[in-house]
Amino acid sequence: MHQGQQPGRRKILGAAALGAGAVVFGGAGQAAAADRTAADRTGTAAGGRPGHGGVGGELPVPLIVGHRGASGYRPEHTLGSYQLALDMGADVIEQDLVPTKDGHLVCRHENDITATTDVSAHPEFADRKTTKTVDGVKLTGWFTEDFTLAELKTLRAKERIPQTRQHNTLYDGVWEVPTFDEVLRWADREGRRRGRRVWLHIETKHPTYFRKLGLGLEERLAKALRAYGRHRRTSPNFLQSFEPSSIRRLGKLGLECPKVVLLDAPDTRPWDFVESGDPRTVADLIKPEGLRWIAGYAQGIGPALDQIIPRDASGKSGEPTPLVKDAHAAGLVLHPYTGRNENTFLPTDYRRGTDPNAYGDARGYFRACLATGLDGMFSDNPDTALLVAEEFRKA
Ligand code: G3P
Ligand code: CA
Repeated sequence: MHQGQQPGRRKILGAAALGAGAVVFGGAGQAAAADRTAADRTGTAAGGRPGHGGVGGELPVPLIVGHRGASGYRPEHTLGSYQLALDMGADVIEQDLVPTKDGHLVCRHENDITATTDVSAHPEFADRKTTKTVDGVKLTGWFTEDFTLAELKTLRAKERIPQTRQHNTLYDGVWEVPTFDEVLRWADREGRRRGRRVWLHIETKHPTYFRKLGLGLEERLAKALRAYGRHRRTSPNFLQSFEPSSIRRLGKLGLECPKVVLLDAPDTRPWDFVESGDPRTVADLIKPEGLRWIAGYAQGIGPALDQIIPRDASGKSGEPTPLVKDAHAAGLVLHPYTGRNENTFLPTDYRRGTDPNAYGDARGYFRACLATGLDGMFSDNPDTALLVAEEFRKA
C-alpha cells in the first residue's frame, strides 16, 4: 500500500526502514506433490477450507513466504534476494510490483526508488528528482513512473536499511531492478531445475494511484501471468494487495489463483476506500462481517503480526486476538507479515541485549505467532522462520 499512512507498518519497520486460497499446503513433500494432479496439489479438488492443511496440498502448513526474497540478507527485490530465499527453502517468494513510464512491471516495494537504488548517484537523472503525493502522502525523490525500463536498468539496487543490515551493503550495486517478466522466467527456470513449481506471492502496489496515471497494474499483471501459464486456479501464485478493489479487479480479469487482502493498522482505511468514499476502516474489515465480505472474493488475509499478537504501550507482546479464529470461521487463510530477526523489530519481551541491530529471540517470537494457528507467515529471514515452521509441520 502507500508508504506513508501506515502507522502499523511504520511502527514495525521503524523510521529508518521507511526512509526507509483455494490453495495449497499439505506438506506431503514436494517430490510426491509433483506426481499429483494440479487440483490435488492445490487442494482445490479436496474441499475444506481453501489453503488450510489436510487437503493434500503442494505447500506445507504453515508455509513461509520469503519477504521481498531473503531481504534480511540481501538487498530486497533483487534476483539475488529471490534466489537466496529459494535456496534456503522458502515455500513462496514475494514480489511487490510497480510500473515504469513505458508500462513495464518491475519489482520494488514502492515507486519511490530513492532508498533502494543508486539513482541519487546518477547525475543524468538529477532533474528527475521531484515531489509527489502518493496515496495522500507527500514524498520527494525519484519514482519508477518517471523512468523508462531502459533507464531504470542503468540503476543498481542497494540495501534499504544499511544501519540495521550493514552486512547486506556488501551486495550494493550487484543487482539490477528486476522486471516481473525476468522473475517469471527465473521461476520457470528454477522450477525445471528443481523438478517442482516455484510459488510466488505477488502484490500490486498503489493500484489506484497508478490507474489514475494510465498505468493500471492489474491488466499488465494478468497479461504477464497468462504468458507464463500462471493464470489458472491451480497456478502457483498468490495475488495480494492492500486495496480490495485491486483484488476484485484481478478476479474479474479471470485470474483464479488464490488472493489475499492485505490489512494495514486497524485505524487506517485502504486507499481505494479513501478515493471511493467507502467509510470502512481496517478495524471494520477484521470484524466477522468484514471478513465475510472479503471471503466473497478472496481466499485469505494478510494482517500485520501485531494484529495477531498485539503489543502494549511498552512494546511487550500480549494475548492473541480472535483474528485467527474469526478469519478461519469465514473460510479465510492468514498470511501475516513480517517476521524479522533483529531486536528492533521484535516485541520487547523477545529482545536480547541492548543492540537494536543484534538478533533477538526471533525463533521464540515466530513460534508464538505460528502457535496461534497461522497458515503461513512472511519473513525477511526465511531460514529462521522455516526452522520454527518445521516444528509445527511435524506436529
Ligand atoms: O505483502 C506482505 C507484506 O509485504 C506487506 O507489507 O509493506 O512489506 O509490502 P509490505
Ligand atoms: Ca509486500
